[in-house]
Amino acid sequence: MRTRTQVGIVGGGPAGLLLSHLLALRGIDSVLIEIRSREYCEARQRAGVLEDGSVALLRDGGLADRLDRQGLVHGGIYLQFEGQRQHIDFRDLTGGRTVTVYAQTEVVKDLIARRLADGGAIEFSVTDTEVADLDTELPVLRYTDAAGTRHEVSCDAIAGCDGFHGICRPAFPSGALTMWERDYPYAWLGILADVPPSTDELIYAHHPAGFALHSLRSTTVSRLYLQVSPDEDIAEWPDDRIWAELARRFELPGWALQQGPILDKSITPMRSFVSAPMRYGRLFLAGDAAHIVPPTGAKGLNLALADVAVLAPALDALLHGDEQAAANYSATCLQRVWRSTHFSWWMTTMLHRTPGADEMEMQLQLSQLRYVIGSRAAATSLAENYTGFPLPKGDG
Ligand code: FAD
Ligand code: DHB
Repeated sequence: MRTRTQVGIVGGGPAGLLLSHLLALRGIDSVLIEIRSREYCEARQRAGVLEDGSVALLRDGGLADRLDRQGLVHGGIYLQFEGQRQHIDFRDLTGGRTVTVYAQTEVVKDLIARRLADGGAIEFSVTDTEVADLDTELPVLRYTDAAGTRHEVSCDAIAGCDGFHGICRPAFPSGALTMWERDYPYAWLGILADVPPSTDELIYAHHPAGFALHSLRSTTVSRLYLQVSPDEDIAEWPDDRIWAELARRFELPGWALQQGPILDKSITPMRSFVSAPMRYGRLFLAGDAAHIVPPTGAKGLNLALADVAVLAPALDALLHGDEQAAANYSATCLQRVWRSTHFSWWMTTMLHRTPGADEMEMQLQLSQLRYVIGSRAAATSLAENYTGFPLPKGDG
């Protein structure tokens, strides 16, 4: 079946869904295709921290009813090392900036509900996705829908929002992309637990046995992470072992980690990856399709949202004959991407134990942590990067 749309969107994660909504607000039609089912997309456990800029973007798009009611505003984090837990006060250090804890799954649920309520075209559970005719002004998106019908959609532009393992980045002609990549020799074992958080702010813990993070999802649900080996078998981590290891890495006199039923358990590899440019002709990449950061700085979701905040007005202008913002899209996004890439690498290498590393690595990490706690300038640098920088103006 042959059809026509203005923007074809590959991928129904936060980037693709928000883009389809921002385009709709500008009166632009899109077709969004997603290989997974709606239920899968709404259950997939991932990030949880939104910068103020991301919250403002969702609010300005009329998407923040539930976020404003259920999101938990946080004015700082704790850094724990050498048996002490120190608070970094974002409000004080940055003139009032905060972050909001609201799970990516909830952002995705809100976006899907809104797109469907507005009559948006979303096809879940598609297969055999292809993008073609990229050297023309009318690229083509092909897919097979859940009922088995093959579709061919002619588009004025295609947005590749299909994550790191998607098909859009590999569709760039060979030689069109430069890529930078770093794999880390560790992974995160993440759990979602039905237990009230044992802390009022997130705890990032440096420990000789490895990094641990205490985050949260609500006043009754906690999210916790443990540094593990990248080839770790999750079957080797029964619930008792996870709780014992978390308790060890967060141990502090007079403080106890509350335990409860584990609702979800997964292992995430850690990688830094940037590919540039984020555009070839009328194919634009956004979010994890173009770049990956290790999760330690809580930046992946925020970067994906920031990309499409730049892309939506750029596509609007392009569709009305003005090429300038589309020409600037990649360079505008990459400035933020590289800042977040550096910050995430810095947080990651300061807090994780490298397998086989010598005692000097530990001493350098501890010196850096003491410096962040002891110097207002160093703490401010962490706070302003963590809370994020303002989004570029809408016309990119
Ligand atoms: P995605 O959310 O990956 O969305 C891409 C979508 O495209 C997916 O729904 C996928 O099914 C779909 N897709 C893929 N291929 C195709 C195709 N061929 N056709 C159609 N659709 C396709 N960040 C943090 O800050 N903190 C965290 O704790 C954290 N944990 C993470 C855990 C995991 C397992 C992963 C993978 C990422 C995690 N991240 C985390 C990163 C953060 O979740 C991502 O940066 C964010 O999801 C990026 O959004 P996106 O829309 O660009 O990509
Ligand atoms: C969460 C994830 C992160 O990577 C992080 O740095 C902070 C919080 C989370 O899932 O809540």
